[in-house]
Amino acid sequence: MKVLVTGGMGYIGSHTCVELLERGMDVVIVDNLCNSKAQARERVAAITGKSPLFYQLDVRDVEALAAVFRIHTFDCVIHFAGLKAVGESVEKPLLYYDNNLNATINLCRVMDRFGCRNIIFSSSATVYSPDNQLPLTEQSRVGDCSNPYGWTKYMGEQILRSMAQADPRWSVVLLRYFNPVGAHESGDIGEDPRGIPNNLMPYISQVAIGRRERLSVFGDDYPTPDGTGVRDYIHVVDLARGHVAAIDYLMSHKGTEAFNLGTGVGYSVLDMVKAFETANHIEIPYQIAPRRAGDLPEVYADPSKSAEILGWTAQHTLEDMCRDSFRWQSKNPQGYDG
Ligand code: NAD
Ligand code: WQD
Repeated sequence: MKVLVTGGMGYIGSHTCVELLERGMDVVIVDNLCNSKAQARERVAAITGKSPLFYQLDVRDVEALAAVFRIHTFDCVIHFAGLKAVGESVEKPLLYYDNNLNATINLCRVMDRFGCRNIIFSSSATVYSPDNQLPLTEQSRVGDCSNPYGWTKYMGEQILRSMAQADPRWSVVLLRYFNPVGAHESGDIGEDPRGIPNNLMPYISQVAIGRRERLSVFGDDYPTPDGTGVRDYIHVVDLARGHVAAIDYLMSHKGTEAFNLGTGVGYSVLDMVKAFETANHIEIPYQIAPRRAGDLPEVYADPSKSAEILGWTAQHTLEDMCRDSFRWQSKNPQGYDG
């Protein structure tokens, strides 16, 4: 099985490459390194003993991408490449629509040209409308996204669906990730955000090693048990294994199918702080701050469709997520730069 992994140098992509390589698959990565570092490839090679091929290119560059397809015959593509910072997408919407949508459109054009029509797309729980009942199932309403990033995922899904409807040779799996956290248990690959982290777990990890003074908890007056926001955190290695399970499905089905990748369990911000403190025997100073614009009180998945159809369920505990995040951050205080 030869797999093209777009965005494979990034956080989720690098962990997925490890799982693919460990199962004996051939992996080719394309990434423009706009939000990742070349060292990720060396780390993946050190973990697995196998070095994935890497081409530095922008997925929007049709000719550069076509050159890779001329060299390799792929069985399928996992499409991670995209920009993902919610706040930045509000400030620079065209950057997000251009990058995320044109990358997807160009990738599909090139795949079609070379006769590879099997694609797994990195989607997000953010495609679900805010007014759904919980837990979110794949049948829950999508749309009414609160930021341009979310719309790019919504539109990306729609583009792929339309394409598979028009041409029955296509096989499309849409994976809707909830909140990926944690790192490979080696502590050698992990999330390496640029600047001040937007997401909770990287922020907590940076407080833990003294890179940030204290965590701001965005709101303690939500209608949740302790008043802080509740999310479905999932260990990135479980998420990566969800892609392996999705490949089996992809290769034996046509058309489009969406799957939630979450645990089905919600934890609050303060649950996360306490779990991190307990798992790592360290104190996380925090202060209560105002709510963050666009945040929902509670988001968690119903992952039963993935369990039934893909045969996949998340295995790692909250303690694993906290321990592995801290191990990665402690071994790499400045991320891949040291
Ligand atoms: P990441 O930024 O670590 O990885 C994305 C990779 O894509 C980076 O290495 C980046 O350099 C590359 N890239 C971006 N645009 C590109 C382009 N035009 N051409 C080539 N390479 C390009 O992000 P991640 O957390 O690993 O996320 C992977 C995918 O999963 C993204 O599509 C993201 O939107 C989606 N997703 C992430 C989360 C999350 O919380 N991390 C949740 C839901 C969905
Ligand atoms: C989690 C909780 C915050 C930081 C985002 C994207 C979503 C998806 C996953 C890509 C919330 C609180 C956070 C902090 C805090 N990404 N928080 N202090 O917002 O659920 O999801 O990442 O698809 O699209 O929106 O994740 O980690 O930012 O926040 O109190 O410094 O932690 O308010 O309740 P979110 P998050």
